[in-house]
Amino acid sequence: MATAIPEVECLLRDASVAFKKKFGCDPQVAACAPGRVNLIGEHTDYNEGFVFPMALPMVTVVVGNKTTSGTCRVLTLANGVDEPKSVEFPCPSADSPLTPGKPHWANYVKGVVANFIGKVPSFDAVILTSVPIGGGVSSSASIEVATYMFLEQVSETAGEVKPMQKVLACQKAEHDFAGMPCGIMDQYIAVMGKAGHALLIDCRSLDGHLVPMADPSVVILVTNSNVKHELTGSEYPTRRRQCEWAATLMKKKSLREATEKDLTAFKSEMDAEMFRRIRHVISEIRRTEEATKALERNDYKTFGKLMNESHISLRDDYEVSCTELDQLVDAALEVDGVYGSRMTGGGFGGCTVTLVKKESVEKAIAHIKEKYNGSPTFYICLPADGARSLKL
Ligand code: GLA
Repeated sequence: MATAIPEVECLLRDASVAFKKKFGCDPQVAACAPGRVNLIGEHTDYNEGFVFPMALPMVTVVVGNKTTSGTCRVLTLANGVDEPKSVEFPCPSADSPLTPGKPHWANYVKGVVANFIGKVPSFDAVILTSVPIGGGVSSSASIEVATYMFLEQVSETAGEVKPMQKVLACQKAEHDFAGMPCGIMDQYIAVMGKAGHALLIDCRSLDGHLVPMADPSVVILVTNSNVKHELTGSEYPTRRRQCEWAATLMKKKSLREATEKDLTAFKSEMDAEMFRRIRHVISEIRRTEEATKALERNDYKTFGKLMNESHISLRDDYEVSCTELDQLVDAALEVDGVYGSRMTGGGFGGCTVTLVKKESVEKAIAHIKEKYNGSPTFYICLPADGARSLKL
């Protein structure tokens, strides 16, 4: 059985009850932002390539109030946080800027406070999320963007800043406060996602192109392996550096500019590992464009085939998959009615994404469960809306 995804209203109610208990009054403002699943286009965003994510129905909610105390107080209700769940920090000023520290989860909030465009007043807030934490579906971007939308309300500046500025401020928060040199995809889709659509993002021009994805005969199945290998932290920046090195070698601004022909021409100047890494990026950018066109004509067969090729490339060339993700993908592909399946997100654990006929989804879940040597969690997802303020 798939996990039931809580309604935003339920999260809002629970967060408000917790807020009253903790701070002794009702919250006045609230905002939410979704997690995301990337359908195809992995490790291409920081190479100025294409990515094709959709916003998930799982969201992070932030509720709270502006205060005059000069201190920001935040409580998280997130599951799986094994650090203190409450944090207090002074409202930043020019002479005392915020710095990252412990607890780790609070760095996402502090990073957004530090990068907010405008003056942030002190506030009390409660955070609650239904996005699986550390599951490769951007729980961190959902906290950052929900925090940004919340701060817009406590500072009464909603509407003053363009959506893209929010995206960039939240990405900077992740770089500077969480120490993760991520691309633009996660924060972009968290802000710009639209129900019933996937979003092709051109990470060079930063243009977005919405593609309808509302055919009732197919669904997106997100399967959480519930493992996270520690490698993630060090491997991501290493891959990024390798890509930058190769782009410089090929005299390109980024790998977006490089072709398969260029790669062959420079083959003798790269070691075998570097060659595979770059082959992944160049081929994945091409696959993402092709997959978008396939989805536009409801050609799920081609879309699924490209997803499968993406997984193989991530597994063998980019080497960011792991046994658990490979097992989940292999099991999914044994089921009739599954068009395609692949790891999604940074890799080394987290989730897979599977495109499957609606009528076959329960069968797919049962089969994957039987075949997988762990305890997976399943989410049947339709593309949801991006960040928004909520009425209390
Ligand atoms: C993480 C990063 C994204 C992107 C993916 C890989 O989720 O945050 O920017 O690079 O990995 O596609």
